Amino acid sequence: MVMSEQIVFLNGKYLPLSEARVSVLDRGFVFGDGVYEVIPAYGGRLFRFDEHLRRLQASLDAIRLNNPYTAADWLDILTSLVKSDGPGDQSVYLQLTRGVAPRDHAFPDAVQPTVFAMANPQPAPQPDLLEHGIAAVSLPDSRWQHCNIKSIALLANILLRQQAMDEQAMEAILIRDGLVTEGAASNVFIVEQGRIKTPLKDAHLLPGITRDLIVELAQANQIPCDETHLSEAQLIGADEVWLTSSTREILPVTTLNHQPVGNGRPGPVWQKMYTIFQAYKTTLRNPA
Ligand code: PDD
Repeated sequence: MVMSEQIVFLNGKYLPLSEARVSVLDRGFVFGDGVYEVIPAYGGRLFRFDEHLRRLQASLDAIRLNNPYTAADWLDILTSLVKSDGPGDQSVYLQLTRGVAPRDHAFPDAVQPTVFAMANPQPAPQPDLLEHGIAAVSLPDSRWQHCNIKSIALLANILLRQQAMDEQAMEAILIRDGLVTEGAASNVFIVEQGRIKTPLKDAHLLPGITRDLIVELAQANQIPCDETHLSEAQLIGADEVWLTSSTREILPVTTLNHQPVGNGRPGPVWQKMYTIFQAYKTTLRNPA
């Protein structure tokens, strides 16, 4: 083992990444039969851990997979990984699959889930992206009817993101029946006449932890914020468009479908919310 090799968690053991092995019959590998979470860790502290764990449980319940660990077990496992990965901001990835069994679509009897977790450095948002914003394209939402489950089966999301990249954009904003759902790996906000708007949570989008926090922070700071249906026309005509996720925080979209959003620069409401978000992170780093 190389001295500085990353330590990961697999099925109850901590081991070097290069020694972590899963069977080719794992249902995650064969079917994409599993769920996952991505949790930021700022200054060694897991960010919104309870909320991420609640969403994990909801995903597990939706696919009828038992959670082998208590919240205290998870905290212990994930904190150990964050500590072993050294200083600096990190992002924890965890996934559970329906375990190893002969290939058959129906659930196997009495199989142990496969549990894997790792922590990776999470670089601060790139100053260039914050200064200039990013490009996005709107695309038809080709995914299934259960996008609220954080499934490891991400083929549709991958194809959509790649289609955006092929068009020199960093994200695809997805449209179902004329309404905005979310990004390929992010939630979407717009600003219209000073009001923040984001789609209502339903089975067509992931209930983003960052999304929920922004709604909460907007309310706490008296910034008008609506959870509502958003049409594609509203998206295209918006003064500001933002994307949110655990790894990208809040990014301004300044080009949509190759046209400028508003005046083509990150907007004042984004700037305000970004500042509030960073201040909130700092309070977690330095508990009173
Ligand atoms: N993705 N919607 C989708 C489809 C996502 O994949 C993600 C995050 C989000 C934002 O959720 P949150 O704020 O809880 O990160 C919304 C993660 C980061 C990923 O797959 O890497």
